[in-house]
Amino acid sequence: MPSFDQETLRADFPVLLREVDGKPLAYLDSGATAQKPRCVIDAMGSFLSERNANIHRGVHFLSRNATEAYEASRQTIKAALQVPDTHELIFVRGTTEGINLVAHGLEEKLVEGDEIVLTIMEHHANFVPWQILAERCGVKLHFAGLKEDGSLDMEEWKSFFNERTRFAAFTHISNVLGTINPVADMVSFARERGVETLVDGAQALPHGPVDLGTLNPDFYVFSGHKVFGPDGIGVLIGDREKLNSFRPYQSGGDMIQRVSVNGTTFRDVPERFEAGTPNISGAIGLAAAFQYLSEIDWKLAFAHEENLRSRLSSELEKTGDVKIFGSAEGKAAIVSFFPGFAHPHDVGTILDSAGVAVRDGHHCAQPLMDYFGVPATVRASIAFYNNDDDIDAFLEGMAKAQRFLA
Ligand SMILES: Cc1ncc(COP(=O)(O)O)c(C=O)c1O
Repeated sequence: MPSFDQETLRADFPVLLREVDGKPLAYLDSGATAQKPRCVIDAMGSFLSERNANIHRGVHFLSRNATEAYEASRQTIKAALQVPDTHELIFVRGTTEGINLVAHGLEEKLVEGDEIVLTIMEHHANFVPWQILAERCGVKLHFAGLKEDGSLDMEEWKSFFNERTRFAAFTHISNVLGTINPVADMVSFARERGVETLVDGAQALPHGPVDLGTLNPDFYVFSGHKVFGPDGIGVLIGDREKLNSFRPYQSGGDMIQRVSVNGTTFRDVPERFEAGTPNISGAIGLAAAFQYLSEIDWKLAFAHEENLRSRLSSELEKTGDVKIFGSAEGKAAIVSFFPGFAHPHDVGTILDSAGVAVRDGHHCAQPLMDYFGVPATVRASIAFYNNDDDIDAFLEGMAKAQRFLA
């Protein structure tokens, strides 16, 4: 039975117990990478110390064991996300590789004059691969803008669809604004017009489960390290038929049917896109993370994150001379702001000296920074393991920053 005992859950994350320069760590940078619970660390450690072998190739006990563990991880994650039968799960390095794989596959499908609809709030990972594709194929890109509150301007987004539109890629949750996009409506709007969709779920899964059976986009991608799992592993879930029609993204061992001097034939997904030895322990760690997350009551966890976010946000506003970006209804616990009194980097440095880890910079979203006319922001990103002490430390750090820098 899922539950939410915040203190117990927090204690599952060993790194949160450490100090920075004699001060308790207040980790508010989970949007960059999330901390790992003990069970993920243990699952990887026990695989490496007791079952390590290469997969798919060996007949010996350890290899069979490792193959079983790797394939079981795929099934655990598919079940957690309710991946429909029409789709397959491919292990990749992360969101970035997943999107590049799809963009690469589309290269042979699109022709000059075709169009792709994007949004201005995309991370560079969901921006640059499409720009490169556009250059190679002569495809036109459209970027939908935002409303005042940082929500997507859906009227504008819809207005870009026409008979030349082939593809739409959009983030589930903005890594800068915390805006949760109406992805279900977006997927069905596109599908009704025969347009394929890719949803960037990198910031969504850390804030609650996603039902891909219901959402049913053509492609969904995310990174293990942001969802309390290991780094160097991520997932692309995509329509099996469409993926099988893509040219292999990388080639080598394990993805072939038959190789001869006269040519090579390729396997279907998932192996088609898992050339070479994959990140076996990473897949096992990621499945452990999903198992862990399935035991959390996400209604309560999301409400807890929202309480912390709204407290941080309203107290921050009271300090004056900060501009917060993104106040969309029901947003996720990410607070980005521009401090009018100093450069975001200096604010980040002072916060660091108070034991508070935040992110300052453009957050790999330079087009969004340009849209707002700022070079960078400070971003506090909250996860369910944060507590009021973390918010207190942040607010004290901000008061210090204003004293020193204003
Ligand atoms: C919304 C979004 N998409 C994509 C990425 C890229 O993820 P990765 O670097 O793990 O590939 C990030 C990382 O911050 C992100 O926040």
